Amino acid sequence: MLDGYHILTLTHRDAPLETLAHAIAPGDNTAEALQNLKAEMGWEELLYLATCNRVTYVFYSQNTVNQNIGADMLAALRPDLSAVLAQKTADKMRLLHGSEAVIHLLEVAASMDSLVVGEREIIRQLRQAYDQSRDWKLTGDHLRLLFVFTIETAKEIYTHTGIGRRALSVVALAFGEMQKTGLRPDARILMVGAGETNALFAKFLTKAQFRNVTVFNRTFEKAQALAQANGWRAFPLDELAYFSEGFDALVVCTGATQAIIQPALYRELLAGEEGKKVVVDLSIPHNVARETVEAFPMQYIEIESLKETASENLAYREQERDHAAGLIQERILQFRDRWHERQVERSMAHIPDEVKAVKERAINEVFGKEFAQLDPAAQDLVQRMLGYMEKKCVAIPIKAAKAIALRGQKKHAGAMA
Ligand SMILES: NC(=O)c1ccc[n+]([C@@H]2O[C@H](COP(=O)([O-])OP(=O)(O)OC[C@H]3O[C@@H](n4cnc5c(N)ncnc54)[C@H](OP(=O)(O)O)[C@@H]3O)[C@@H](O)[C@H]2O)c1
Repeated sequence: MLDGYHILTLTHRDAPLETLAHAIAPGDNTAEALQNLKAEMGWEELLYLATCNRVTYVFYSQNTVNQNIGADMLAALRPDLSAVLAQKTADKMRLLHGSEAVIHLLEVAASMDSLVVGEREIIRQLRQAYDQSRDWKLTGDHLRLLFVFTIETAKEIYTHTGIGRRALSVVALAFGEMQKTGLRPDARILMVGAGETNALFAKFLTKAQFRNVTVFNRTFEKAQALAQANGWRAFPLDELAYFSEGFDALVVCTGATQAIIQPALYRELLAGEEGKKVVVDLSIPHNVARETVEAFPMQYIEIESLKETASENLAYREQERDHAAGLIQERILQFRDRWHERQVERSMAHIPDEVKAVKERAINEVFGKEFAQLDPAAQDLVQRMLGYMEKKCVAIPIKAAKAIALRGQKKHAGAMA
């Protein structure tokens, strides 16, 4: 049964983010602190996951788990907290058992419980947490099985539902809108600003293999760093007014509080070209003057309209959460079967060695003399026949036991239905 799985967790849903800090394992000697915790609590296995919006202890234990385990755990792990603060923090923690705990972990991995629904980053964080916990010798076979199943399920959910589809970040949305205009990878792109937002935009450009990009920035070195990393050109912002090569798209995003792209400057940048250009402006306040937008033909992509799309996309992802929940209900039954099969395998792990020992005894002791009198070809044949028998004999009882366990499982599931 899955009764041995438990989760003790504190997330952005349960408490303000600053409270989460009280449930985090100590930063110094974390491995040792968690190993001691596991021993002190009598847990067989432990997986520790801490992200910016959740602290989660997944543990396996066949012992009865008392309802105030959060306070006991914090007393053991965080002696620096006062008893009152530890209890207050523990009161906010959620404790889940058995299939509820398994379902919760599946929901976390599928990003159904995240601050931003469908944010795949959690899978990477979960993998990292598992690898770390395994390297610290905290996990064992039960959590390995659950972890593998969790990642498989999350991938299935991302593939078969729309939970992670439809972009949410304005940068991704802006790039998507720009792409819709049909710009080709050799399009001439002028980028104004080399801060975080444009650096993110640059990643999308690079991924889509845009190669003709010129970066302008107030601090030239930053423009240079961004351009060099992508094989582009860079100039100081002062030189923008002298740029005379024309452009197909202008991507502007700086912290300037006055619009930089005034009509006169825009006209210079056009260098006599008259076609419709693409202008992306993610700055707040806008860096492209309203007069510029009104005076020239352009496809203007700006932050307000993208925010609307972002909220619509978020609503779509929320809706897909129900779809994902349905998949999880199906998957949990599969995990029960898989867990039972694994227990059968483990309980029969000694069989291959025992069958091998019988074979060795037959050749070396019971039929030792007769075997020694055979010629090499006959010995080889006997060895091969016994090897074949050994393989088949090992599989028979395991297969039978798995079938019995599965029948028992189905009977149990039928009785519960
Ligand atoms: N779209 C979004 O989701 C989003 C998110 C965050 C921010 N924003 C907006 O995007 C803009 C930039 O944000 P960021 O996160 O990229 O900021 P950032 O990392 O601080 O970078 C700011 C950039 O603007 C330049 N800059 C600042 N003041 C300037 C001025 N007076 N004249 C010319 N250049 C100036 C800086 O040049 P130096 O290198 O010389 O300092 C730098 O390139 C802001 O308006 C912000 O509100 C948008």
